[in-house]
Amino acid sequence: MLEHLPYFQQHLPRDLSRVNVVIERAVQSEVALISQIGRYIISAGGKRLRPVLTILSGKVLGYDEDPLYALAAMVEFIHTSTLLHDDVVDESELRRGRKTANNMFGNAAAVLVGDFLYTRAFQLMVSSGSLKILDVMADATNIIAEGEVLQLMNIGNTNITEAEYVQVIQYKTAKLFEAAAQVGAILAGATPEQENALKDYGRHIGTAFQIIDDVLDYSGNIEEIGKNVGDDLAEGKPTLPLIYLMQNAEPPVADAVRHALEHADRSYFEQIHAHVVQSDALAYCVSEARKAVDEALSCLAALPDNEVSQAMRQLAEESLARVS
Ligand code: IPE
Ligand code: IPE
Ligand code: MG
Ligand code: MG
Repeated sequence: MLEHLPYFQQHLPRDLSRVNVVIERAVQSEVALISQIGRYIISAGGKRLRPVLTILSGKVLGYDEDPLYALAAMVEFIHTSTLLHDDVVDESELRRGRKTANNMFGNAAAVLVGDFLYTRAFQLMVSSGSLKILDVMADATNIIAEGEVLQLMNIGNTNITEAEYVQVIQYKTAKLFEAAAQVGAILAGATPEQENALKDYGRHIGTAFQIIDDVLDYSGNIEEIGKNVGDDLAEGKPTLPLIYLMQNAEPPVADAVRHALEHADRSYFEQIHAHVVQSDALAYCVSEARKAVDEALSCLAALPDNEVSQAMRQLAEESLARVS
C-alpha cells in the first residue's frame, strides 16, 4: 500500500529485506511443522505496516542500526501471532489472499504456532537488552489480549457505545501500532517529548487503520483485502458502520442491523451490506478515521522535519486511501 510513494519506493525494499533476514532466521525451528506454518503465513506477505512504523520512528531521529530491524521483525512476529490466534477465534478462512493457517492446518496447529511466534518475539526483545522495550511490549501484548477478550464479550451486543468500540480497537490494534513506534523511538534515544509524539502518532494511525479495516469488511473486495468480506457480520461483531446505523438509521434499518448482529449469520450480509453502503455510515466512519489521521499528523510537529517525517505524513494519509 506504500509502494507507489517515492520515499518508500526508494527505501522500503532494502529496509524490509533487513527485517526479512531476521524473520527468516527466527521462524526456524527443529520442529518442522512450526517452520512450515510460520513460513506459510509470513511468506504470504502482509503490508508490514508495524515494522515500517518501527523503522520510520528510529530513522526520523537519525537511528538506523541493526537492532532497529531486529525489533521491527519482533513487532511483526507479535502481529503475526495475533493473526494466527485471531483467525481461529473469528473462524476466518482467508488471510493475505490465502487460506488461513487454521483452515489449512487446523485450529490446534494454528494456535500452537501462534504461541511459538509470540514467545520467539519475546526472545528477540530480550536480545535487545533493553528493559524498557520489554516493559513496553509486555504491556502492549497484555492490552492486545484484553482487547480481543473485550471484543469477545461484545459479540452480539447491540447496545455497545461508540466509546466502547473505540476502546476495543485501541486495545486490540492501536496499542501495537503505538508500541511499534515507541520501540523505534527508544532505540533512537528519543527525548521524552519525541517518544510521546511517536507513540501517539502510532496509536492514532492504528485507530484510523482499524476503523478503515472495519469499513472494508463491508465495502472492500476480496482481491484487494486478501480476506473475506462479511466476516465481522457473520460473527456478530458490532463494528462502527453498524453502531452508526443502530444509532442513526430509521427504525426498520436499525432493527434489521440489531437482528443480524443478534443472530450472527452470513445470510444477512447482502441485506446489511446494502444498508451500510446506501447510508452515510461509511462516510461517517471515514470521517472518524480522518480525525485520527489528523491527530497523527499533529504529532509530527514535535519531530525533526526531514524526509522521514514527510514519509510519515504520507503513511498517515495512506491509511485512509484503502477506501476510495
Ligand atoms: C490485520 O492487520 C489485523 C488488523 C488490525 C485489521 P493488517 O491489515 O496490517 O494485516 P497484514 O499484516 O497486512 O496482513
Ligand atoms: C484483528 O482484528 C486484531 C488483532 C489481530 C488483534 P480483526 O479480527 O478485526 O482483523 P481481521 O479482519 O481478522 O484482519
Ligand atoms: Mg479477525
Ligand atoms: Mg476485521
